[in-house]
Amino acid sequence: MSRQQQARVEEALRASESMKRGILNSLNTRIAVLDGKGIIVATNKAWDSYGDTRSPSYKAPAALGNNYFDLLQDAADHGDASAEQSMNSLRSVIDRETAFASVEYERAGPGGTHWFVARAMPLEDSIDGAVVSHEDITDRMLAHHALADANKRLQAMSKRVLNIQEEERRGISRELHDDIGQSLTALKIGLHRLAQRIGDEHKEILMQCLSTADLTLEKLRNLSLELRPPQLDQLGLDEALHWLADQQRNNTGLDISCHFAGLTERLPAVLEGVCYRIAQEALNNATRHAKATKIGIRVELSDRLLKLAIHDDGVGFDIDAARNKALRTGSLGLISMEERAQLAGGRLKVRTVPGGGTTVQASFALSGNEKSTENESIDHTLVSMS
Ligand SMILES: Nc1ncnc2c1ncn2[C@@H]1O[C@H](COP(=O)(O)OP(=O)(O)OP(=O)(O)O)[C@@H](O)[C@H]1O
Ligand SMILES: [Mg+2]
Repeated sequence: MSRQQQARVEEALRASESMKRGILNSLNTRIAVLDGKGIIVATNKAWDSYGDTRSPSYKAPAALGNNYFDLLQDAADHGDASAEQSMNSLRSVIDRETAFASVEYERAGPGGTHWFVARAMPLEDSIDGAVVSHEDITDRMLAHHALADANKRLQAMSKRVLNIQEEERRGISRELHDDIGQSLTALKIGLHRLAQRIGDEHKEILMQCLSTADLTLEKLRNLSLELRPPQLDQLGLDEALHWLADQQRNNTGLDISCHFAGLTERLPAVLEGVCYRIAQEALNNATRHAKATKIGIRVELSDRLLKLAIHDDGVGFDIDAARNKALRTGSLGLISMEERAQLAGGRLKVRTVPGGGTTVQASFALSGNEKSTENESIDHTLVSMS
């Protein structure tokens, strides 16, 4: 190779080296290269300008030539649990037992807490060297915490909304049955008495009024039962779901069965209410959307695990598409079933394939400390489940 060629190659190498250094130095992430013993052999600008990488209490600075393990040991001796963890992770990377390790840690700073992630990975083309980086993930963590807080607030709100909805249904149902129902019955009695006294020429009008009162009373009764069947409070989930299945069977002519297994005593009132509402919505969906011929409701208690399943043999559906459509159109069925199950400490799964029917399954782990409905003064709020 001529001198000129050699000079050109050296120039190209220098340019390449300087570019690599430039790239490393323009990163915000602090990067250091360690040899097999943990000695810091190269650093980028962010690393140098940060000073102590982990704690102001460290004696050894994280500078070139120092041993990074000493630094971590120092921090661990000052009670830093994440330093202990980092030491073990780094050791396993240097020993080539693992190809990547990361440890998250937080530091209190003047502007509040900062979060970092320390990563270690093997240095390319080396048998024991490692690259260590520290990245500030404070923005990500703050966004994560804000999201978690917003989620908590939303959950609390939806719990409250569902409680209020249930209480209002109960109130309106009672009002319809006891108050308006009684008034209509009194009206009917009055009309009957009148019918005995008036002449034939007005009797027909009176009989029409009586039949309108009868129809209205019937509608009122159905409305009151649909809002909140009294069986749910007085007789329990078993009776309430059998009544619901009977109702839907009469209305639709479908083959709807209801099966209970392993339930020897009443469940907590809140759980009974949640199961009833989930079954009601799943049954409504099956009768409205599924084109099913058979629907089965099954409630099973085994090893303190309560399972509620509503199965139909209908057309099935694409669950993701239905969820997206529900969000656009404001449909609440699927969302409210999931929400109710979750708020009561359970889980809801919908298994469906287009053409292959649908099963909605909710499961709840009972702790064994729940009070059954029979021996509690009924607290109907969902809050008592949490
Ligand atoms: N058992 C089912 N069989 C077939 N399709 C179903 C079934 N359950 C739900 N779906 C589909 O999922 C969609 C969303 O159901 P969801 O209960 O959330 O809303 P909706 O029943 O349309 O309205 P809402 O329940 O608010 O009155 C339905 O519109 C329907 O297309
Ligand atoms: Mg629905």
